[in-house]
Amino acid sequence: MTTAYRRPLLAGNWKMNLNRLDAVELVSSLMPSLAEGGCDVLLLPPFVHLFPLSRLLAGTSIQLGAQNVYFEPAGAFTGEVSAPMLQETCGAVLVGHSERRTIFGETDEVVARKLRALLSSGMSAVLAVGESGEIRDSGMSASHVLMQTDAALGGLDQEQLSRCVIAYEPIWAIGTGKSATQAEVGEMVTALRQHLVGSIGADAEARLRILYGGSVTPANAAGLFAIPGVDGALVGGASLDADGFTAIYHALCASTAQADGGQ
Ligand code: 13P
Repeated sequence: MTTAYRRPLLAGNWKMNLNRLDAVELVSSLMPSLAEGGCDVLLLPPFVHLFPLSRLLAGTSIQLGAQNVYFEPAGAFTGEVSAPMLQETCGAVLVGHSERRTIFGETDEVVARKLRALLSSGMSAVLAVGESGEIRDSGMSASHVLMQTDAALGGLDQEQLSRCVIAYEPIWAIGTGKSATQAEVGEMVTALRQHLVGSIGADAEARLRILYGGSVTPANAAGLFAIPGVDGALVGGASLDADGFTAIYHALCASTAQADGGQ
């Protein structure tokens, strides 16, 4: 069996929230509490906060990423922001979020083009995948998620794959207060990992981090992080609260320490 150490990752997707002063205040209170825990932290604020926050976070281990990118490098694309522009202020981009797919009509093809554009600019990607409630009810969750994953990751080389993280976010669990159960997450992550061994190879699969997202809170975090194959979380609402996000961070670091101690 291939084993690889996957450093746990806690990502906070702020979505379209917080003005600049609130953003600076939140990050200032997170900075001391997220130091030295042994887990990676990635904050995904709105575009306009990337520059001030990049200055605030300079020299810290907290990473910054964007919530979106356009796949063309430059040109007449009013309102869009390109990967070469983002690459000056942050190291990662979230693509494939269900809000981008459903509200803004982003197809698998668009998601794949965005992913390639940001990887070509040297950045890392968090690829979000997940099924709707209807798809879950129809029993097609796993095939849907595997299809979304293949559409995005297909054709990437090993080096590009090493800069990707998958976030499994069932749409019905996002912002609803109704997280997927440990059994549901465990089943999906197992299906994803088995599939990835075949599609990208055992070595790449063993290195690839998979996060869970959807109503993660301090109360359910430890249980979610105990699921084999889950390497962290992509947090929405609770990432806007310094105490809540810190508590989730400590739950992640504690689960890693426990796993290490148990080896
Ligand atoms: P919530 O944590 O608010 O459910 O949001 C999850 C999410 O969409 C993160 O990308």
